[in-house]
Amino acid sequence: FQPPYPPYDPTDKSGFSYETVVKRWPIILAGIVDQLSRENHQLHLRSQDDPSQKQTLDAKITEGKAIIEKVSKLKYDMARDHVMEPIPADDELHVDFYNTDLEELAKSSKNTWFKAPWLYAECYLYRLLRSYFVQSAPWRDYDPFHSQKLDVFTKSGPSIYGIATIMHELASEKGALESDPAKIKVFFQEMIQMCLWGNATDLSLLTHMSLVDIEKLQSVGKEMQAARKEFIMRDDQEKAWEHLITVKNGRVDIVLDNAGFELFTDLVFADFLVTYTPYVSKVVFHPKLIPWFVSDVTPPDFNETIESLLDPSFLSSTTSPVPSAEQQQHLQQLADRLKKYVADGVFSLSVPKETPLGGASAACSLAGFWTTPVPYWDMETYDPELWKLLKGSDLVIFKGDLNYRKLTGDIQWPAWTPLDEALGPLARSFPLLSLRTNKADVAVGLDREIVAQTEAKDAKWRVNGKFAFISFLGK
Ligand code: F6P
Ligand code: MG
Repeated sequence: FQPPYPPYDPTDKSGFSYETVVKRWPIILAGIVDQLSRENHQLHLRSQDDPSQKQTLDAKITEGKAIIEKVSKLKYDMARDHVMEPIPADDELHVDFYNTDLEELAKSSKNTWFKAPWLYAECYLYRLLRSYFVQSAPWRDYDPFHSQKLDVFTKSGPSIYGIATIMHELASEKGALESDPAKIKVFFQEMIQMCLWGNATDLSLLTHMSLVDIEKLQSVGKEMQAARKEFIMRDDQEKAWEHLITVKNGRVDIVLDNAGFELFTDLVFADFLVTYTPYVSKVVFHPKLIPWFVSDVTPPDFNETIESLLDPSFLSSTTSPVPSAEQQQHLQQLADRLKKYVADGVFSLSVPKETPLGGASAACSLAGFWTTPVPYWDMETYDPELWKLLKGSDLVIFKGDLNYRKLTGDIQWPAWTPLDEALGPLARSFPLLSLRTNKADVAVGLDREIVAQTEAKDAKWRVNGKFAFISFLGK
């Protein structure tokens, strides 16, 4: 599919991609260097303490230093708009795929950091970083963003306990809900909004948002929802609801975005759908197989989140004020239910069996697709198996900004382009719902009037994470 406009790239210095290459990526790369230096320091202390491990640990330290050098060189090259090097043959997915695209870009001299299409360059960046780790045996399964993800998760305690209590109270309404779809609808809308604003917790944006800003965005409750309503520039909740009630015991797929609080909200939404509605009886979650865009969910993150919620001391020890015994009990009930859904297959993770992280196996086209830069309108061509799988879904929920960029190809569409036009051939393949807080320039499916009004109110509406879209398109 060839869209009629070009993709965003940093040659436009007023766009967010320029700011990203100049400011945000260097901060993210510097963060990896710091993280590895800390790890190496810890390894060094252990190696001094334990002579029997010294040789192994010292070898790991040496490799760690080599990775630090590579990341530092990458940062240097990026700042000077150097050519993007081919991805080394590291036996993981998509090497040829990325490199063929690079060769194509080279033909028009767009194979450099400040000239390549933003979507391609950003996906390439995370794939290249992965190659640094996977080529080093002791660091193979290392996720350089893991401790950051965990840290922010532990700071989300107040919102998590708040939501657990809402879910506990919902249990007492179960009978009333069953006999009254209008009541289910009210909660459905609350859940959609919780899940939407959960997307505001994105660590790659922490480079310009404070934790206090993020806490505000996480807080739940009617007044907060109402206050945020004016920031939802496109709101298809009604259409999504009208679709959902036509489904009976169906399957929902959630193409995940970020770990931590956002994943928690996704799990709660899924819990709501299967526990309290007659419409859904199965939810399939789609994670990323490699560390991706800092905070995206990998399979280990998914399992760890559920385990952490089950551990009574995990959040309570870092939450202030200390949660009450009741609150802790509410969270425990919720976590037990989530665990049971995973064990019973009501919730499943769409990954190849033997993949902790990465897991190279070329057979995993299904899950591997999410770490390519391919716009979703080409899904049928690039990953027919995945496309077929999603065609069998009753609703595919795409979480977050990056999924939105891929749904629309990160193209410079006029913001009033109809949604189905911007989705190209993907439109009407399966019912889809995109929940996104705006963190990139691309925007479609808006009324011209809303665009003008918002522009006047806040010129940064496309990128500052304060505005959001709920976009639904049926089959
Ligand atoms: O670099 C910017 C950015 O890549 C966004 O455009 C991107 O989509 C975002 O970071 C991550 O957002 P999310 O986690 O919502 O996909
Ligand atoms: Mg993300």
